Amino acid sequence: MCGIIGIVGREPVAGHLVDALKRLEYRGYDSAGVATLEAETGLTRRRAEGKLRNLEIKLAAAPLSGLIGIGHTRWATHGAPTEANAHPHATSRVAVVHNGIIENFRELRAELEAKGQHFASETDTEVVAQLVDWYLQQGETPATAVATTLKRLTGAFALAFLFTDHDDLVIDARRGSPLAVGWGDGEMYLGSDAIALAPFTDRVAYLEEGDWVEITRTGATVHDETDAVVERPIVTVSATAFQVDRGNYRHFMAKEIHEQPEVIGHTLARYLDLSASTVRLPPALPFDWAKLDRLSIVACGTAYYAGLVGKYWFERYARLPVEIDVASEFRYREPPLPKNGLALFVSQSGETADTLASLRFCKAQGQHTAAIVNVTTSTIARESDVIFPTLAGPEIGVASTKAFTCQLSVLASLAIAAGRARGVLSAEDEKRLVGALGELPGLVLRALRVEPKIERLARETAKVADVLYLGRGSSYPIALEGALKLKEISYIHAEGYAAGELKHGPIALIDEVMPVVVIAPHDPLFEKTVSNMQEVAARGGRIVLVTDEKGAGAASVATLETIVMPDMPDLLAPIVYALPVQMLAYHTAVFMGTDVDQPRNLAKSVTVE
Ligand code: AGP
Repeated sequence: MCGIIGIVGREPVAGHLVDALKRLEYRGYDSAGVATLEAETGLTRRRAEGKLRNLEIKLAAAPLSGLIGIGHTRWATHGAPTEANAHPHATSRVAVVHNGIIENFRELRAELEAKGQHFASETDTEVVAQLVDWYLQQGETPATAVATTLKRLTGAFALAFLFTDHDDLVIDARRGSPLAVGWGDGEMYLGSDAIALAPFTDRVAYLEEGDWVEITRTGATVHDETDAVVERPIVTVSATAFQVDRGNYRHFMAKEIHEQPEVIGHTLARYLDLSASTVRLPPALPFDWAKLDRLSIVACGTAYYAGLVGKYWFERYARLPVEIDVASEFRYREPPLPKNGLALFVSQSGETADTLASLRFCKAQGQHTAAIVNVTTSTIARESDVIFPTLAGPEIGVASTKAFTCQLSVLASLAIAAGRARGVLSAEDEKRLVGALGELPGLVLRALRVEPKIERLARETAKVADVLYLGRGSSYPIALEGALKLKEISYIHAEGYAAGELKHGPIALIDEVMPVVVIAPHDPLFEKTVSNMQEVAARGGRIVLVTDEKGAGAASVATLETIVMPDMPDLLAPIVYALPVQMLAYHTAVFMGTDVDQPRNLAKSVTVE
């Protein structure tokens, strides 16, 4: 993710922009830049590679005095972290800063180059500036040029625009990455979150998905995705909340579910070169994928279910044998470990006692060790030979959501890298799979749109005592995860099962009360799962089918509800299909009135065995 800031001020803004960017450095710091409207030079930029300090040095040498401006601190997704690729990107008419991924930037760039637009960078962001510029050249106003442009973009992003000859206007847009608008005394502000605005104001409004906003010194006009003018509540953010704020959400879990388009994009950017469609792992790994005899994956709870999905991927895309176990069992069975083995630990907190003990056991056995962690200063991170961070940001809700999908994003990237290194995947395969991962933030954003339907279903789910989740292949771990999410925050008993296992016992549970949630994208295993659903329906079972359009049309069984996901490559299904089961658990718990963020008996990090 990146950090965005904008100020429509009454005094020179450049220094304030940099101060705000310092509060956003946790979102990325490959490069930084500002753009202001100067009396003599009009739209003027200062950009620098590396830390914000380098930008401050540039500004000291060449100050800016403009009263309106935008700023950005970057985590590179498309294009190396150079000054040329640093934001803001600009033409003579418009400057833009951007957080997220524009999926269709290639075809837009080709269209614009054919119209004679010249590009100065390799970024997806510059395509947005050039597109708005093109519409301005056609006589559109800044507002309509932005509105028209937004309708042509696919992906998950936040944007802020500054226009030549408009010294009282900044326009911003939110689609999958957060933006907050701040009210000052004759000044207005915008930022990626309220933390950035803390030095200026505690009165903020949070844009909703699809919103875009015109900001002048006297206020803000918010438009929804249909361009209709809408109101967004202005709230006073308490000083303490600036540490981690819930924004417009009732619970941290809800906020973290909705952060997933952004943080998945940020995590993928760490491991993939989305411009070249290749995997980009840290150099000089302490092991060689090609020489590994076996991969052992060890974790607990939700992190274990992420590892279980990873097993399918490493075995399918890298032909790497995987053994996986929950940490509390792993070392006590004294597993024989191979000479050339890698032990991979998955942990959000990086402090889970069972996982840490398993790491130490594997190191004592001479295994290579690696960890997928969300806290890079944690004990597991410090004791592993190499870490693969998830860039989910702080996860406050005890029920893990965004960390889970970020863990899956890392595991998918690693499986592709292993496949290439072991000579199993061709360069074409890699391009295809990485291209698919580039669509993930936008698909996750679209998956969130089923929330109203899920909320209605949750009202019914809150009335039952048991729920069964079924899945096959890489959907099986998502069935397990869905069951865990539901039981840990709503206290309703739930079980996840491999759909093919139903007839070996659990089918005895089927009655006309218990919902059976079936996770079934229309993949090569779909027809097998339909047979399992028919076995359930034949006994009066109540099926909730989570599938795609093709699956919904081919299911041929009566369902209590069918939740339709976007179409997507098979690789992405376990990640995107996690969203509906997360939302079902969340809304059921809300109807149950439980303490969603801090459920009974649980802790965010289990640091005891
Ligand atoms: C997830 O929703 C649960 N709160 C729990 O299973 C958790 O995943 C498990 O305790 C592992 O935690 P870690 O990822 O921090 O190691």
